[in-house]
Amino acid sequence: MQTVEQIFEQNKTPASLVSAIQAVLTASKDITHLLQKGAMAGVLGSAEAENVQGETQKKLDVISNDLLKDTLKACPVVAGIASEEEDLPVVANNDGEYLVIFDPLDGSSNIDINVTVGTIFSILPSNGGDPAEEATYLQSGRKQLAAGYVLYGPSTMLVMTTGQGVDVFTLDPSSNEFYLTEQQAQITASTQEFAINMSNQRFWAEGVQNYVADLLQGEEGPLGKRYNMRWVAAMVAEVHRIITRGGIFMYPWDNRDVKKPGKLRLMYEGNPMSMLVEQAGGLSMTPDGHIMDIEPELIHQRVPVFLGSKEEVEVAMSYQNK
Ligand code: AHG
Ligand code: MN
Ligand code: MN
Repeated sequence: MQTVEQIFEQNKTPASLVSAIQAVLTASKDITHLLQKGAMAGVLGSAEAENVQGETQKKLDVISNDLLKDTLKACPVVAGIASEEEDLPVVANNDGEYLVIFDPLDGSSNIDINVTVGTIFSILPSNGGDPAEEATYLQSGRKQLAAGYVLYGPSTMLVMTTGQGVDVFTLDPSSNEFYLTEQQAQITASTQEFAINMSNQRFWAEGVQNYVADLLQGEEGPLGKRYNMRWVAAMVAEVHRIITRGGIFMYPWDNRDVKKPGKLRLMYEGNPMSMLVEQAGGLSMTPDGHIMDIEPELIHQRVPVFLGSKEEVEVAMSYQNK
């Protein structure tokens, strides 16, 4: 079995980029161990604080954020950090080459029930910009040099791309090393499985209403096939399922809060997942086009997401203008 280091070598990944990714991986191993201790680590439940988006932070959101922040700040190639749990960018090393943007724990409402969560990361060039300035970070998903997630489930897995396809690694608990378990993962072009939070149905726009109504009609409807549904309530787990066996994941715009254009965050959920999905042959869209083509205006901006098996995402998109 090949280690993640051997794969970096094979792919000729620049040493500096490797060290930025390794910093994320080091923190992710600590997060794995904390999660495995569960209630025994005394870290479950809500912290007092709220994050910039007014959501209650879980203790582990804060702890994971601090672990990632400390490891990345100590990494000389990292210029700055942006995180779901930080209102403002954090300066690491002014002359560093990279910006690392992350969701320290995605799906954190799953922690209390011992269900899969994950860390999502995106690496952008710093281009010599000021890492204290939000503007330095506002680059489209196309500019990402690497993206990935570490999934904390029955096993800890790393799914990563540096623009040469998507490789899947599994953390060996005895050696604490990530080993390659699937090379060049590919998302099936068609699917019969969808993921959407159906409880929001009445709040969706008409196109999404019509598409999901047709999915539910199965083989008797215009799409002509019977669909299955899954909802883990953690994007990281939904994307992992899609990379493994195909599917479509949607978090559309809805009118629950008209100020929010969707729930998911562009820079640390939408963009890194889009790079992975497109590197694995899938499609990742927002109603106006590819998510990765969006020029961000804010680090914490939100985006409607439709991603997964290419043919199904194309069908979903065809309803948007109806
Ligand atoms: P986070 O825990 O980082 O705030 O993100 C949770 C996100 C995403 O992962 C998931 O797909 C979605 O929120 C779940 O939303 P619902 O609560 O609507 O199911
Ligand atoms: Mn998240
Ligand atoms: Mn989170």
